[in-house]
Amino acid sequence: PPPPADWVGVGGMGISRLCMNSVIYTVNQQLPGPTIEVNEGDTLVVHVVNGSPYPVSVHWHGIFQLKSGWADGANMITQCPMQPSAKFTYVFNITGQEGTLWWHAHSSMLRATIYGALIIKPRAGPSGYPFPKPYAEIPIVLGEWWNRNVDDVENDALLTGRGPVKSDALTINGSPGDQTPCGGAGMFQLEVEPGKTYLLRIINAAVNAELFFRVAGHAFTVVAADASYTNPHPTDVIVVAPGQTVDALMTASAAPGRYYMAARAFESKTVANPPPFDTTTATAVLRYRGVPDYAPAAMPALPPYTDVVTAGRFYWSMTGLVRPGDPVVPKTVDHSLTVTFGLDTAPCAPDQTKCQGFSVVASMNRYSFLFPDKVSLLEALFRGVPNVYSVDFPGSPPPLPAARKVTSVRKVNFNDVVEVVLQNEGYSRALGTENHPIHLHGFNFFVLAQGLGRFDPRMKSTYNLVNPQVRNTVAVPASGWAVIRFTANNPGMWFMHCHLDAHLPLGLAMVFEVLNGPAPNLLPPPPAGYPKCH
Ligand code: C2O
Repeated sequence: PPPPADWVGVGGMGISRLCMNSVIYTVNQQLPGPTIEVNEGDTLVVHVVNGSPYPVSVHWHGIFQLKSGWADGANMITQCPMQPSAKFTYVFNITGQEGTLWWHAHSSMLRATIYGALIIKPRAGPSGYPFPKPYAEIPIVLGEWWNRNVDDVENDALLTGRGPVKSDALTINGSPGDQTPCGGAGMFQLEVEPGKTYLLRIINAAVNAELFFRVAGHAFTVVAADASYTNPHPTDVIVVAPGQTVDALMTASAAPGRYYMAARAFESKTVANPPPFDTTTATAVLRYRGVPDYAPAAMPALPPYTDVVTAGRFYWSMTGLVRPGDPVVPKTVDHSLTVTFGLDTAPCAPDQTKCQGFSVVASMNRYSFLFPDKVSLLEALFRGVPNVYSVDFPGSPPPLPAARKVTSVRKVNFNDVVEVVLQNEGYSRALGTENHPIHLHGFNFFVLAQGLGRFDPRMKSTYNLVNPQVRNTVAVPASGWAVIRFTANNPGMWFMHCHLDAHLPLGLAMVFEVLNGPAPNLLPPPPAGYPKCH
C-alpha cells in the first residue's frame, strides 16, 4: 500500500466549544486528529513537525514497537520530547496485531487535544476479519474537553499538588453534542442504511474518565478490545477506560428514525465525598437515511455513574478469540510481582505554591515514579549513562512511611514471563480508592482473572489460561484487582502506568527494563534525528 500522507504537524487551531472560542493544539488542524489506517505487516512512517509552543512526543498506544522502542513516544521514557519547531520521524513495523488502536501526545496534558485513531486491518483487508464483513467502519473517539488551555490546567494542578480540575465536557469525535450549551457545534452524525451492520471502532481518548457508551434502540456485539479479537460478546452497553478500545458490530435494525449515542462517566470511588468529576453527557446522532435532521431523537438510558456491577459485567465477561497460531498463555512464570497502587497524601512541597494542607502523590508499591529530566531511560540504558534510574522496583510494598519518589525500574531478561497482580488500594483513608486503568507499553498481556476486594492467592485456581482477554490496558476498579501475564519478548524500556493522565505526574507508574536477547533480538541504535534533550 502507498505510504500514508505526511502530517502537516502539531499546531494551533481556533475552535468553538461550549459557547467559547479558544485555540487548541491538534494535529493537522483536526479534532480528533487524522485517522491512520494500515494493514498488518506494514511499516508506518510518520513525520511529525512540532508547531506548538510546547515540548511534544507522540505515542502509538498499543503498538508493540518490536525492536523499535525508540519510536514508542513516551516522554522521557523512550525519548526526550520534540522542542517547539523540531521534527522527528517515527518509523515502526506493525506485525502480529489487528484492530483499533490510537495515537496521542505523551507529554503533559496535551493528549487532551492531540489524539486520533490508528486502525490496523488484516493483511488481506476486511475479508480477514473473524466476523462478517461490516457494511462500514466508523471510528468513535471519546474525549474530554476543558474550556481553559490544558497546559494551564496542568500547571495549576502541579502548583496545588492535587489532580487537575474536572473537565467541562465529554466529547464524541471532538464535540460534546447538543445536550450541552452551544454543543450542537460540530456534533457527530452518522447516517445509516436500514438493515446494514456497522463496525464501531470505539476509543476512549478521554484524559481522566472511564466511560459508559450506549446507542438508543441498538445493541452491540463486541468482537475486539485493545486490538485483540474477542469471542462475540453481545451487550447493550459498552464500558471503556482511558487507553482501551472496543470494536463492536451494530446493526441498524430499529425503526427508521434518529437515535442518540451517548457517553457518560463511570466512577466508583470508595469515599463519601469523591473529588468532583465530569458528570456531563456527550452525544452524537445516528440517523437513518431519509429521516430528516429535525426528527426527534431518542436518548439511551445510561447506567448510574457508580454502577460497578454493569462495569464489572462488561469488563470481566469477555474472552479472547484464539485462532491457530495465536500466542498462548505461557505456563511458567519467571517474575511474579504484586503491585499495589493508589493515592496517598504528602506534605505540600515548596514549589507547590497553591497547595493547601496536603498534596496528593500516587505510587506503585509506595514508589512514586519520578521522570528523569536529562536523558530518556531508553537512551540511558543504551548508552550506559549512570545514575539515571534505579533497578530496585520492589515486588511488594516496602515498609516506607510514605511514598518514595524515585525513577524505579524492574529489570527482566529477554523472553522472561512476567506475572503481575495489580491491586488497587488507597494508602490514605481521606482519599479512598478510585478506578485506575493500568496500561503497559510494548506488550499485550493476558488478563487471567479480575475481582473486587483484595486478591487472594487461592484465586489462582480460577485463572483463565485457555482464552483470556488480551489487552494493553486493564481497568482495575476501586478496591479491586487484576492478574496479568506477558512475555517480555521486546528489548527496551517499557512504561507501565495509570492511563488517567492526572495520575502520571503524581507518580502512578513504573518501568520494565527488558534486556537484549541473543541476536537478532537486539535493540538497534537510535534512529536519525532522535530528539536531543535540553
Ligand atoms: Cu496511551 Cu503511556 O500511554
